[in-house]
Amino acid sequence: MIDITGFEVSGEIHSSRRNKIYRGLRQEDRKPVVIKVLNDEYPSLEELNKFQYEYEVVSKLQQIDGVIDHYQVVDYGNTKAIVMEDYNGLSVDHLIENGMALKTFFHLAVELVDILAQIHSESCIHKDIKPHNILYNLQTGQVKVIDFSISYQLSRVNQTVINPERRPGG
Ligand SMILES: Nc1ncnc2c1ncn2[C@@H]1O[C@H](COP(=O)(O)OP(=O)(O)OP(=O)(O)O)[C@@H](O)[C@H]1O
Ligand SMILES: [Mg+2]
Repeated sequence: MIDITGFEVSGEIHSSRRNKIYRGLRQEDRKPVVIKVLNDEYPSLEELNKFQYEYEVVSKLQQIDGVIDHYQVVDYGNTKAIVMEDYNGLSVDHLIENGMALKTFFHLAVELVDILAQIHSESCIHKDIKPHNILYNLQTGQVKVIDFSISYQLSRVNQTVINPERRPGG
């Protein structure tokens, strides 16, 4: 198991080409957390920046209940780890392994549409909505979106409406 200062890591929940995801506890407040770590022991600056970008984008969306909370980014060896909320969610790809009741499906769909509308109203596009990136809590029915790694945050600078008559080259 990995050893990150300040955290008790209890188990791995996912491993992909780029990342490993663990469950654990933050020692200072005993909060249950999920920790996303870059797989590469010596990541490039570009990879580190992308990881930081994911944290920054989510930090701006924390007022939306349906977006997972990101608590902090911590150093881990030469790389970094994102520490996020563990609200006991299960990703929908696991949930549908044994089928899904129609009632659950509609509940999920309606919640998701509402969450995406809130994300879009903050000028952010997730760009990777799929069962792996949607969490569902079986006890409460609460839905949350994760993995903003390739999301697009429209900056204020980009929001200027350009008169098509005066568009450069137009
Ligand atoms: N906060 C969380 N709570 C519960 N499970 C989580 C959480 N964050 C991630 N996971 C689990 O880990 C998986 C991968 O997380 P994430 O999508 O952030 O990483 P990834 O590297 O993009 O993975 P992939 O490339 O497979 O999409 C999710 O599909 C989900 O099963
Ligand atoms: Mg993902």
